This record gives sequence, structure tokens and C-alpha cells, in this order.
Amino acid sequence: MKVEKLVFIGAGNMAEALVKGLIQGGVCPAGHITVTDINEDRLVYMRETYGVEAVQDNALAVQAADVVVLAVKPQVFPEVLPGIAGLDALVISIAAGLLSVGIAELLGPAARVIRVMPNSPALVQCGAAGISPGPGATEADLAFALEMFEAVGIAVQVDESLQDVVTSLSGSGPAYFFYMMEAMLAEAEASGMDRELARALVAQTLIGAGRMVVESGLEPDELRRRVTSRGGTTAAALAVLEEAGLGSTMQRALRAARDRSRELSGS
Ligand SMILES: NC(=O)c1ccc[n+]([C@@H]2O[C@H](COP(=O)([O-])OP(=O)(O)OC[C@H]3O[C@@H](n4cnc5c(N)ncnc54)[C@H](OP(=O)(O)O)[C@@H]3O)[C@@H](O)[C@H]2O)c1
Repeated sequence: MKVEKLVFIGAGNMAEALVKGLIQGGVCPAGHITVTDINEDRLVYMRETYGVEAVQDNALAVQAADVVVLAVKPQVFPEVLPGIAGLDALVISIAAGLLSVGIAELLGPAARVIRVMPNSPALVQCGAAGISPGPGATEADLAFALEMFEAVGIAVQVDESLQDVVTSLSGSGPAYFFYMMEAMLAEAEASGMDRELARALVAQTLIGAGRMVVESGLEPDELRRRVTSRGGTTAAALAVLEEAGLGSTMQRALRAARDRSRELSGS
């Protein structure tokens, strides 16, 4: 798909991560990217940092656009969409909890819509995104959306009915690991370790565990068994976690996130 003009409506955290990834990854040159925002300081920053065009007027920005990424908060959509209705472009929405069919209705029949659930590690080019083609989206549109989010991590295609599960797994997922890391750090400090040292060890451990799952191709339960010797330290810790029901608590937590996502999208 030839993209001469790619527009981001909203130049916040997620738009910046994508702009950076697209330029660095050679997916789209800065000269083909326009961003909009209501905040003039933000526009100056984006223009000066990435060399993209940056304007306040959404309607003007989307004129002759091939791709428009809706990167404002979901609650701003009702205000933004009528102003850009009638678009003849691929429209990619990254808003949590908004159905592609609802967005398509507000934009009119010429828009081809794709819904994406990214996550915050996209900010460090290590994101995980679920991508769902919506009304009017073509194979070429889907291929472009996958390429775009692969510029900031991994991207997988999922049926839109599973976007609430994606939200509960990778969308909200970073926070589950942050929470676990908070507790690990608190205990390391309580045991007398310097916080900065503990922080480095915990973060690297999480990165390492993730990479082992990806690179070994083994299931997490197999990897866990391999590092747990009978009567050892890991076994002592895991016995406490099991006794506390961590596994079933995590499953309940994911169900709560999934159900809340369904509630927010009214699906
Ligand atoms: N960040 C994440 O980890 C994450 C993960 C998954 C999905 N998402 C989704 O990604 C979208 C963007 O999130 P974000 O974290 O990048 O938000 P953000 O940093 O708040 O960025 C949104 C930007 O849009 C601007 N804006 C507000 N009204 C506007 C308008 N009418 N026209 C143009 N720009 C406008 C905001 O300005 P002000 O700040 O001045 O209002 C802000 O700079 C959201 O829909 C969110 O649900 C984010």
C-alpha cells in the first residue's frame, strides 16, 4: 500500500511512539507524516523532534490523507469524529473500548476502519498489539496496519470479538507486572538491599523470563519446572504463591479486565 500522507489525530504518548517507530523503521518518512493536537507546545515539540508536519486543524490535516490514526482518548472521539466525517481513507483507531462499527457509522461509508489495541511498551519499541479489520478494511489495509505496529513491537491479527481479551492480557498486562515488581522491590529493600540495585535485578529478570518464553518456544510451566529444584529456594517461594492462590487470582483479575472492557464498549 502506497502511503503518501499519514495523519495522527492526537499527538500524545502513543502517537509519538508510533511516529518514532515508523520513521526509524523506514516504514514511512517524516515528510509523509502529519500530526494534530489541541496543544500548541506539543505540536512544536513533534515538529522539532521528528520533522513531521504538525497542525491544530483536524479537518484540514486529514484532507487527501491515505491513512488516519485516531490517537486521542476515547472520550474525545464524539467531539473529533464529526469534524472529520466523510473521509475516504484507511482509519486506524487505537482507542480502548470503541467498536469499529460505531466509528465507521460516524465517519461515513467511504472510510475503511481497523481497530487496534496497543500497549504502553510501544513507547520503548517493545509493544504488543492486537489488530482487527473492521468495516470496509481490505487485505492491503490490514498488511499496512500490521507493518505499522510491528515498527514498535509485535502485532497480531485477532477477531474484533477478542479485543476485550487482548485488552485484559497485553493492554492492561504491563500494570500486572509493575504491581508484582513493586512487591518484589519492597521485600528486597526490607531485606536490606539498595533500591536501585534491586530495581535493576528485578527488571532484568522480567525481561529475561519473557525472552526465554519467546526464544525457547517452551511453555511457561515447563520453564518453571526446569528452574525449580525440589526442596530449593524457588520451590519455597512458589509454595507460598500457590497456597495464596496466585494462579486463580490472576485468572480472576484478567476476567475482571475483560468484563470491564466489554462493559465500556457496550458489547
Ligand atoms: N498509552 C497507552 O498505553 C495506550 C494503550 C492502549 C491504547 N491507548 C489508546 O491510545 C489513545 C491515545 O492514548 P495516549 O496515551 O497517547 O493519550 P495522550 O497522551 O493523552 O494523547 C492524546 C493527545 O490528543 C490531544 N487531544 C485532545 N483533544 C484533541 C482534539 N480534539 N484534536 C486533536 N488532539 C486532541 C491531547 O491533548 P491534551 O492532553 O491537551 O488533552 C493529547 O496530546 C487513547 O485512545 C488510548 O485509549 C493508549
